[in-house]
Amino acid sequence: MSELSVFRAPTIEAEIRVPGDKSMSHRAVLLSAISNGVCVVRGFLPSHDCQCTVNAMRNFGITIEQPEETTLIIHGQRGNLHPPSQAIDCGNSGTLMRLLCGLVATQPFESRLVGDGSLSSRPMRRVIEPLTQMGASIDALGANGAAPLVIRGARLRPIRYELPMASAQVKSAILFAALRASGKTTVVEPFPTRDHTERMMSYFLVQSQREKLGQGIAISLYGDQVPESRDFTVPGDISSAAFWLVAAAAQEDSDLLVRDIGLNKTRTGILSVLLRMGARVREVIADCDQREPRGEVRIQGGRLRGTIIAGDEVPNVVDEIPILAVAGALAHGKTVICDAKELRVKETDRLAAIATNLTAMGVEVVELDDGLEIYGGSPLLGARVKSYGDHRVAMAFAIAGMFARDQTVIQDTDCIATSYPGFPEQLQRFLAPDEKPPTLVINPAEALEKN
Ligand code: S3P
Repeated sequence: MSELSVFRAPTIEAEIRVPGDKSMSHRAVLLSAISNGVCVVRGFLPSHDCQCTVNAMRNFGITIEQPEETTLIIHGQRGNLHPPSQAIDCGNSGTLMRLLCGLVATQPFESRLVGDGSLSSRPMRRVIEPLTQMGASIDALGANGAAPLVIRGARLRPIRYELPMASAQVKSAILFAALRASGKTTVVEPFPTRDHTERMMSYFLVQSQREKLGQGIAISLYGDQVPESRDFTVPGDISSAAFWLVAAAAQEDSDLLVRDIGLNKTRTGILSVLLRMGARVREVIADCDQREPRGEVRIQGGRLRGTIIAGDEVPNVVDEIPILAVAGALAHGKTVICDAKELRVKETDRLAAIATNLTAMGVEVVELDDGLEIYGGSPLLGARVKSYGDHRVAMAFAIAGMFARDQTVIQDTDCIATSYPGFPEQLQRFLAPDEKPPTLVINPAEALEKN
């Protein structure tokens, strides 16, 4: 089991890129696989989670070539999958398992979806309920409606479904199912959540409608549609950039430019929060060609102050709460995070994990049922903390370690590879910016010849 050792870091002055967006990488593979032809996906995130999606679709008979780690050539089969010869391993990925439920619920065969220990304890009733209403049959073999899931697909009927919680994964599962249902399906979300599925479907020429409904949005989609094959280039993941954005924001004189990241409004809440906390943030949208705004963000550090994160802002920063809690600990005054009960059912109970780790680093924290109160501004103490097998907890506390008085060790950090391969190396570059990176010898035989 690997660990990361982190010590106080110098000021950040850098220009970086981050790996491809996780949510878009999953969706690009799934939509391409059910499209009517060959699609090239560039900028794909080669993380464990997304690689599970590639393997899953291969198990359903889709040919996927991967000439480079970040490039996929996917041969769409018009939504006709083959019965898999084995259980589909979704690894640690809730996004894959839930979206796949929607997709395989339309197939005339039985599929079995399994996941690791963390995924096998996450709630799946939230997708089972609407898909069952549409006519699929799904058995949850785990405790309390959790995986393994056995899904027998069918010709689905359309439904109108009001999501009981703001969840892009549940919305997307229904939209994938709706593509092959027999009429108009409508999903109503209480608050807007990330809309990558809707945008990507529209880019693949799927017809749908959006309508504002109170604080939320109703999305309607007509069945019997085959997505038109398209090439897609995935922008960098703002949720991965978030770690460095906070590291720069919390340090006066830091100046960080992140190039080529996704700047979809349903994901940029982190920028508004950091602006409110006192960082200087400049966001430039350079391009929206594939229906997804992308561009660059420059952030300059300052003296941060506490803030409140609540209500409809929470779904927008749902994956950034661990690192925003660290920002709260580094800011002066009180930071309150509430309406965030969903964090209790992520890769781990993130509210409990954050509270335990911040306390170990000497921060005063009150754990609420649906959030946290953080009293920031006192110096962080170095500590040995756990990741709880959760990639975002591991990375958030690596950033906290950059501000601690002495060494911080984050235990069990293999999980970082589920979303951000290359994070430890990037961290190392920030911790010791003047150290020259070791010369990379790709082929030792070639290097010997040159000598
Ligand atoms: C995701 C949606 C969010 C987020 C997850 C990725 C997606 O989950 O936390 O990391 O790609 O749709 P919920 O929709 O369950 O909140």
